[in-house]
Amino acid sequence: MSSSDFSSDVVNFAAFMRLLAAPTPVAPTNTTVQGSNQFVNVGCGGCHIPQHTTAQSPFGGQSNVTRTPLSDFTLHNMGTGLQDQVSQGAANGQQFRTAPLWGLGQRVFFLHDGRTNNLVTAIAAHASQGSEANQVISNFNLLSASDRQAVIAYLRSL
Ligand code: HEC
Repeated sequence: MSSSDFSSDVVNFAAFMRLLAAPTPVAPTNTTVQGSNQFVNVGCGGCHIPQHTTAQSPFGGQSNVTRTPLSDFTLHNMGTGLQDQVSQGAANGQQFRTAPLWGLGQRVFFLHDGRTNNLVTAIAAHASQGSEANQVISNFNLLSASDRQAVIAYLRSL
């Protein structure tokens, strides 16, 4: 008998992950609200979609709930700068699934290979030849310094 009398460890782990509470962002401030608005204005929200509403779920309390994972959970071509030459499933080495940004404030290393602990660098790394995010990153770079700072403050609050 395994450590559980009910299911395999894998099934138990999947259920555990599924039932974990979503990360809770810190309470909004004027700056984080400004940052969240700019995040949407420049187009980050096109991939990091702010809200989803769940469908019917067999688990209690999980049906028709609005969540804010900040991801479309879709693969995007992120350009030559992010590519890692690793093909996984249907994804070639330049395609990545949009990282959900919830809980970002608790993470230390960013991007699929944890290449940086700096959010500004992580944003800049979205732009390189062939990336679908190039236009959005140039919009971000055109923001005023205080708007860019507000976006970073918003990301840290997640
Ligand atoms: C074309 C889709 C797309 C757009 C537009 C986009 N992102 Fe992303 N973002 C991604 C993908 C894909 C990843 C995962 C990349 C990886 O794993 O290396 C990511 C990762 C990140 C990460 C790292 C998260 C982590 O946990 O490592 C941050 C921070 C982030 N994006 C912020 C932004 C911000 C801010 C903007 C707007 C200025 C933006 N993104 C626009 C697709 C996008």
